[in-house]
Amino acid sequence: VLDAGCGNGLSVDLLAAAGYEGWGVDSSPLRRWQWRERAQRRRLAVADVRTLPFLSSSFDAVISSGVVEHIGVVEQRSDSGRYSVTGSPARFDERVRFLAELLRVLRPGGTLFLDAPNRLFPIDFWHGDEPGQARWHSWREPFLPSARELTRIVRATGMAAEIRFLSPRGRLRFGQVRRWWYGRLLAPLAAAALGLMSLPGLRWMTRTALNPYLVAVIRKK
Ligand SMILES: C[S@@+](CC[C@H](N)C(=O)[O-])C[C@H]1O[C@@H](n2cnc3c(N)ncnc32)[C@H](O)[C@@H]1O
Repeated sequence: VLDAGCGNGLSVDLLAAAGYEGWGVDSSPLRRWQWRERAQRRRLAVADVRTLPFLSSSFDAVISSGVVEHIGVVEQRSDSGRYSVTGSPARFDERVRFLAELLRVLRPGGTLFLDAPNRLFPIDFWHGDEPGQARWHSWREPFLPSARELTRIVRATGMAAEIRFLSPRGRLRFGQVRRWWYGRLLAPLAAAALGLMSLPGLRWMTRTALNPYLVAVIRKK
């Protein structure tokens, strides 16, 4: 299993504990400091997810969590800690290149799990001035992906793959957002809504503005 954009690399240790051979890459050299704490640190490498140092069809599964939104954008934090983001004109093409690379290293019949905040949902709890803080944004902001954009990106890779979306129930634990009063107020409601979205007849809701976080399951044919 490859974790593309693995951050602190904890997933690779968790995968090993569960009996899987996990590998992780991240483009930030600073992550090496965190990786020193990992038992499986020899399976963690600094690399860009658009040019992976692995042979084609090497992995049964690929995970990429909270990474696609960072491809093809410029993010900044001002001296006062204010977060801002702008999209590059080549954003779509760069994301196609990213997805094509993840699908290249995945074997036919393998599964890519990709997740990111939903562009259609008006509040972004992941990229604010402080962890978990609400950041209001327009659906026109060229940053977070929508289900439609991810579907178009997969198609544009030209690779035979099918995409579907799951409810983020169980994926989101509302840990950081509960630091804020509105998070504590809304978390039980949100948990109930995500439970509803996981019902087979209501999965269509995962692709709408009602869902804060996209969880895409992409199967390579
Ligand atoms: C929000 S963090 C998510 C980390 C981890 N996947 C997790 O769920 O905890 C995004 C990570 O993607 C990495 N990243 C962003 N662009 C990347 C790229 N082009 N290639 C590899 N890693 C990238 C960043 O360095 C950062 O560690």
